[in-house]
Amino acid sequence: MEEKKILLKNVGVIDPGCIDDAIRAGGYEGLKKALKMAPAQVIDELERSGLRGRGGAGFPTGMKQKFTSDSCLKCPQRYVVVNADEGEPGTFKDRVIMEKDPHLYLEGTIIAAFAIQATKGYIYIRGEYHESIRKTEQAIRDARNKGFLGKNILGSGFDFDVEIKLGAGSYLCGEELTMLESLEGKRGHPRIKPPFPAEKGAFGMPTLVNNVETLANLPRIIEHGSEWYRTIGTERSPGTKIFTISGQVAKPGYYELPMGVTLQELIDLAGGMRNGRAFKAALLGGAAGTFVDASMLNERMTYDNLREKGATLGSGAVIVLAEGDNVSDILYNCLRFFKHESCGKCVPCRVGTAQLVNKAGQLRNGHSGNTTLLQQMVREAEIMAGTSLCPLGQSPILPLESFSRYFKELQ
Ligand SMILES: Cc1cc2nc3c(=O)[nH]c(=O)nc-3n(C[C@H](O)[C@H](O)[C@H](O)COP(=O)(O)O)c2cc1C
Ligand code: SF4
Repeated sequence: MEEKKILLKNVGVIDPGCIDDAIRAGGYEGLKKALKMAPAQVIDELERSGLRGRGGAGFPTGMKQKFTSDSCLKCPQRYVVVNADEGEPGTFKDRVIMEKDPHLYLEGTIIAAFAIQATKGYIYIRGEYHESIRKTEQAIRDARNKGFLGKNILGSGFDFDVEIKLGAGSYLCGEELTMLESLEGKRGHPRIKPPFPAEKGAFGMPTLVNNVETLANLPRIIEHGSEWYRTIGTERSPGTKIFTISGQVAKPGYYELPMGVTLQELIDLAGGMRNGRAFKAALLGGAAGTFVDASMLNERMTYDNLREKGATLGSGAVIVLAEGDNVSDILYNCLRFFKHESCGKCVPCRVGTAQLVNKAGQLRNGHSGNTTLLQQMVREAEIMAGTSLCPLGQSPILPLESFSRYFKELQ
């Protein structure tokens, strides 16, 4: 298996700080084409492409644009918000795009804004991502100077501009509705869904929230067409995915591959197991992801296939463990992460995450009666999933249930 670089094709080739370099490499061609189409045609093309959101949930991008575009036609404003918070442990794909080819996702953001006829956008970037912030600031300045942003973009009559907002290190603020609260200057506490951002998002207006990698696909799809795009990946998950692989592999890093690649193929591309050790487990999709064992090595990694097998693709983070590693250490770390990131607003999550960490500590230390302990933990996480206010409290069940499915024998 070889890398299939459609999003990362300019990485290491162009100077990310030079807009002329980006333009010479084909930058803003997708935007020029989009501006000659009707907004509804752009949405149709994206719907036909089958692109699904790369922020983790895999929601169809064109459909989301359609909902946002059709919602509240009398509203005076509509917004595009770029989710560049990238808080999922083990995930660093958006950072690569922002640092190495920032014009790509900026162009995608402008195309999305044109599609839903938004005149204002926000890029919500993780505050610790200094280089991403710097590169994006420069890209915005240069794009304005070239007429890709601002009033009457490229003489099309379409106006759009973006502003950067910085996150302050809260995982929960990566969740779209919490992000919108933070964006509005409020405390990062979640909102109840519905209404969804498409109906009532930033400042009460229809808002399209998309991940950086999702938006980076738009220029390519518009430029080359949905039919071309569908030749990559699988029928239900077209396109590529940027995987970030870490842990016990020889060459950890980021790899762009067609959707549907297997875990074994990804590990091989990452140089195989470090020091020839045997594979034991992987955590797919970060802390809010699932553990798998060697029986899943040859499964196709697509949103649907993994879901059918009780696993997740999520953000594309893959953390690999080898024989001899203690999987319950990683489970403990995931649960500690949730406890730390819980906003404390609702009791099941505030108390539940703390209890799960205590129990995971006992599990890790090989406490007696561990199978019962694990069953108790799964039951508690199920109750949390059913009673917590937002998706964070519904997440611990994912690593816990999959851990208990594959690794309870080890206890
Ligand atoms: C706790 C939590 C954290 C999240 N963090 C991120 C994040 O850092 N980046 C991201 O793009 N999506 C994140 N999401 C998903 C977003 O809520 C949302 O689904 C996504 O931005 C939609 O974009 P997409 O349709 O392009 O995938 C998070 C979700 C949850 C529940
Ligand atoms: S589930 Fe957790 S993070 Fe979400 S509102 Fe409740 S306490 Fe806050």
